[in-house]
Amino acid sequence: MTPEPGPTDPVGRRLLPETAAVDARGHLTVGGVDIVELAQERGTPLFVYDEEHLRSRCREALSAWGDGVAYATKAFLCLAMARLAHEEGLCLDVSTGGELHVALAAGVPGHRLVLHGNNKSTLELAAALQAGVGRIVVDSFDEVDRLERLTDPDGSPLDGPPRPRVLVRVTPGVEVHTHEFVRTGQLDSKFGFGVASGDAAEAIARLRALERAGRIELAGVHAHLGSQVFALAPFAEAVDVLATFVAPLGLPELVVGGGLGVPYVAGEQAPSMAEWASSVREACSAAGVAASVRVTAEPGRSIVATAGLTLYTVGTVKEVPGFRTYVAVDGGMSDNPRPVLYGSGYETFLPRAVGAGRPRAIRLVGKHCETGDVVVSEGRVPADLVVGDVVATPVTGAYGYSMASNYNKVPRPEVVFVAGGRARTVVRRETLDDLVRLDVP
Ligand code: LLP
Repeated sequence: MTPEPGPTDPVGRRLLPETAAVDARGHLTVGGVDIVELAQERGTPLFVYDEEHLRSRCREALSAWGDGVAYATKAFLCLAMARLAHEEGLCLDVSTGGELHVALAAGVPGHRLVLHGNNKSTLELAAALQAGVGRIVVDSFDEVDRLERLTDPDGSPLDGPPRPRVLVRVTPGVEVHTHEFVRTGQLDSKFGFGVASGDAAEAIARLRALERAGRIELAGVHAHLGSQVFALAPFAEAVDVLATFVAPLGLPELVVGGGLGVPYVAGEQAPSMAEWASSVREACSAAGVAASVRVTAEPGRSIVATAGLTLYTVGTVKEVPGFRTYVAVDGGMSDNPRPVLYGSGYETFLPRAVGAGRPRAIRLVGKHCETGDVVVSEGRVPADLVVGDVVATPVTGAYGYSMASNYNKVPRPEVVFVAGGRARTVVRRETLDDLVRLDVP
């Protein structure tokens, strides 16, 4: 095993995309593309994804979980990403009418989609039913009411309502150690039906009745504990709870949600997709879940996070004697709100000198009008960083572009996929005109 880099060492290989390499000039290449030149050609901020890395993570998910595993599109979605995940054999988890629309626009067939959401509107549910969505994960009694109306053969606004496959989202009362904003398995949650309260059993009884009436098919139970989870034990605990429904009712499917963590900074370790899947399977057999039950998951972050990196250009360097050096870049909380929202940490490095030591401690900040607009609170860079340098933050492929905003009317960055020595734009950079395209003059 390669030793973990110390704080002043070059950025660790594990935090870079799979095809990352260093060329003769010491530049970082990804997918055979020189990253410094790419930034010069395309401008910054720029999201760069290693297409080979994305594909191999999808294959890893499929081989670990089998057919039915879904990519959680909220982590990063555009037409190209939806197509890539579909081509690699994954289903896609969509959690709003918007994500549903993008997945369908990408040509993903409805039956390969899973619809989530704690507040699906009647319109969203109707759109999903009309698209023949493969699975709907029911989250509330109000949603059961809506499904009852939409699948009523006499009163439905839909022509010949289809018979959707539904799963019940259960909150198993399992807490995970992650940021409280992304914890979802505890009882005090807006998501799902509590087990301890009896809501889960009641929801299942109501859906069973709808099934008997031939209006839905009750496919199974689902739990999602939270995101950026490193420990596997909570998943096994959730399985114990889910199994109490699956086994006696003979339900065909058990889903443990997403949540597998990824290392963002030196020293962090996460289980592999295969380890995650096999520990869940072991827990299932220990809990008496029949081998015929489809046990699956919906990873988001672990598919896309490490495949992506963000490139910025350094605009100003400000020394505050006795405190720190502020290095300001041309993006910030509008392209990566995670540090502000969750206090998330990242590494920093210069793609022109990816193998260089990083003796200089800096704070990488954005260009927004807020003190909190910090990209990397404790960054390290080579001593010779200058204005005009391209600086990179690795592991920004998940929940970066997907949570980007136009705060301060900063246009959203371009997104490129790199592979085989070529870069292709998958989302173009917003223009200044785009910033007024919704305004009514
Ligand atoms: N399934 C469900 C029902 C979910 O709610 C989520 C994420 C996933 C799957 C995928 O989880 P993942 O494998 O990506 O951890 N914006 C936050 C993360 C929010 C996660 C929301 N739900 C962040 O940047 O950390």
